[in-house]
Amino acid sequence: MTSGLGFPTIEARCGPLERLGGGAHSRVYAAGDYVVKVYRNFLGWHELEASNMRRAGLGRWVVDTLEADGAQVLIMRRFPGRPVTAAQLPAALPQVRTFLAGLHAARSGEVDLARVRERMRRFRTALSGSGLDDLFEAVEEPLRRGQLAARAAYCHLDLWSDNVLVSDEGEVLVIDWTRAALDDPIRDLSLFKTGTLDLLPPSASVETVLGMLPDEPNARVRLRAYLAHTYLHDLYWFLMREPYEFDAQRAMKVPRARHALETL
Ligand SMILES: Nc1ncnc2c1ncn2[C@@H]1O[C@H](COP(=O)(O)OP(=O)(O)OP(=O)(O)O)[C@@H](O)[C@H]1O
Ligand SMILES: [Mg+2]
Repeated sequence: MTSGLGFPTIEARCGPLERLGGGAHSRVYAAGDYVVKVYRNFLGWHELEASNMRRAGLGRWVVDTLEADGAQVLIMRRFPGRPVTAAQLPAALPQVRTFLAGLHAARSGEVDLARVRERMRRFRTALSGSGLDDLFEAVEEPLRRGQLAARAAYCHLDLWSDNVLVSDEGEVLVIDWTRAALDDPIRDLSLFKTGTLDLLPPSASVETVLGMLPDEPNARVRLRAYLAHTYLHDLYWFLMREPYEFDAQRAMKVPRARHALETL
């Protein structure tokens, strides 16, 4: 039996596929004990994601990578959980904290600040006139002062709630490793704040991320800067995409951003 989705080879191996999700770059299916992530862009992202998962210590979740049925495919073990909700977040936090602290523990080289400057130029060009000067200053001033210099760590870089799965037993698995790279671990924490902790009320969200900060130079200034950077990045993303949600997102995100900047 196949699902008729056009994956005879994959289904012969894994069983009938059932659509789970998938964004701009992939389709994700469940098949019995497996999850199958199908890339049609032929950029080798199935191998990239598998090797990133291994590097993050999650190699036991990788079953195989292959090319079949006109696609590049990553087969993973299926985790019995769903994207974390606001109600589950407090109980899941200790595990997420331990996982991220482990991920970020080893340092390698310096953070590439030229890339931060380049992104800020891009955001400035697109978002000038949007009344966001305080957010820009929160990144650009510490950049000018050299306060964002830091040792790089291996980071996930897409820690929004859809990518943090929680089971009924309270186990946590961080998925979706295509963007992982060396960067400032505090940028990863900022992405976790804006993408996941912001399910919580504003003060709880800021207090929680503050509690996750490593004890190292300029940690608080870097957090303030990368939070502003991440909110700007999100707004830039919504400005560039269809359907047009920029105004609604700005109304939601800018007060969150300002609350964080004032607290820090
Ligand atoms: N190993 C897994 N176990 C259980 N569910 C999973 C697993 N991997 C992915 N999922 C489910 O599939 C959804 C989509 O997976 P994933 O986040 O990897 O891709 P995506 O973000 O949708 O795709 P893209 O990277 O193209 O944007 C997840 O939110 C999750 O619900
Ligand atoms: Mg995802």
